[in-house]
Amino acid sequence: MAIKRIGVMTGGGDCPGLNPVIRAIVLAAHARGWEVLGIEDATHGLIDLDYRSPHGNRTITVRDVVGILQRGGTILGTSNKSDPWNFVVEKDGEETTIDVSATAVENYHKLGLDALISIGGDGSMKIAQKFCDLGLKIVGVPKTIDQDVAATDTTFGFQTAVQCATDALDRLHDTAESHDRVMLLEVMGRDAGHIALHAALAGDAHICLIPEIPYRVAPLVEKIKSRKANGHPYSIVVVAEGARTVAGEATYADKVIGEMPKLFGAAQKVCLALEPHLKLDVRSTTLGYLQRGGSPVQFDRILGTRYGVAAVEAVEAGKFGRMVSLRNHEITTVPIADAIERQRLVEPQGQLVHAARSVGISFGDE
Ligand code: F6P
Repeated sequence: MAIKRIGVMTGGGDCPGLNPVIRAIVLAAHARGWEVLGIEDATHGLIDLDYRSPHGNRTITVRDVVGILQRGGTILGTSNKSDPWNFVVEKDGEETTIDVSATAVENYHKLGLDALISIGGDGSMKIAQKFCDLGLKIVGVPKTIDQDVAATDTTFGFQTAVQCATDALDRLHDTAESHDRVMLLEVMGRDAGHIALHAALAGDAHICLIPEIPYRVAPLVEKIKSRKANGHPYSIVVVAEGARTVAGEATYADKVIGEMPKLFGAAQKVCLALEPHLKLDVRSTTLGYLQRGGSPVQFDRILGTRYGVAAVEAVEAGKFGRMVSLRNHEITTVPIADAIERQRLVEPQGQLVHAARSVGISFGDE
């Protein structure tokens, strides 16, 4: 079937590199004479055709993508409260969830889409798979700063986030060393500790706590005390937001309907646990959403561009139900089903953890 009109949407948390993907899709599609319709705020623009946000469902022209390669965020807007099977609505003054998937499918056809490129993380890929099961022609593009989507070696946004965390660690080194303090930096990483691990390696941290390796407080105290005894009375600790003790769970804030449970206060928890055991000041900093914003680093701009081009080529080749992926530096496609089967987590026995341990980084487990 000849393609005339494709849709593109971004879902889940934003991530540096989304705009380079959109730009590449638009340029590659226009080169084929296709029209590109931007769907606003993830599936919101598909669920309600009268929905109007500042982004707005609209045809994206080549002119619209001039100058967006270097911009963080997404010109289409995004949302992590847009699962059509669990869509949040207000009923009798209370928020509840309903299934609006049939409306979304109907609107896909009303919009005259020949295919839809869905750019998102594991949540968005799960939704994409369900749409495929209902007959929609979807190509997925993996996105996450956490690098936790399976079936791809990496995702754009991750390198930018790690650079942000590394810059923060460089700054914390200066002040930690000046004051002889223990400085904790909490970084993102709900289930996967990739950002924490990479930042710890690049930012010369002494302790790294990640969800995949539960920690105990005693080894942390020991590490900090031995550094002090060896003439280094300051220490740098990276804590992934999903870090947990051997005995405990990650720390969550109150549940909000339709949203993923929010993690909250992982570094602060470590701070409070360490303080009574140390005759040192302990301070914690949460990097938070700074990691999600900002201009994408060159790797993420290039990967985003490659993914965007590959997604258009996948549509052209009729490879629906597949996600573009990076394997051994080469772009390929994989079934979306493979990407949602499991998460891509840090390998506790892997080379990076081994390298980190070998240069003296403690994970609090031994
Ligand atoms: O998916 C990336 C991520 O940054 C997670 O590490 C974090 O828990 C989550 O997004 C927070 O996103 P939000 O507050 O936008 O739901």
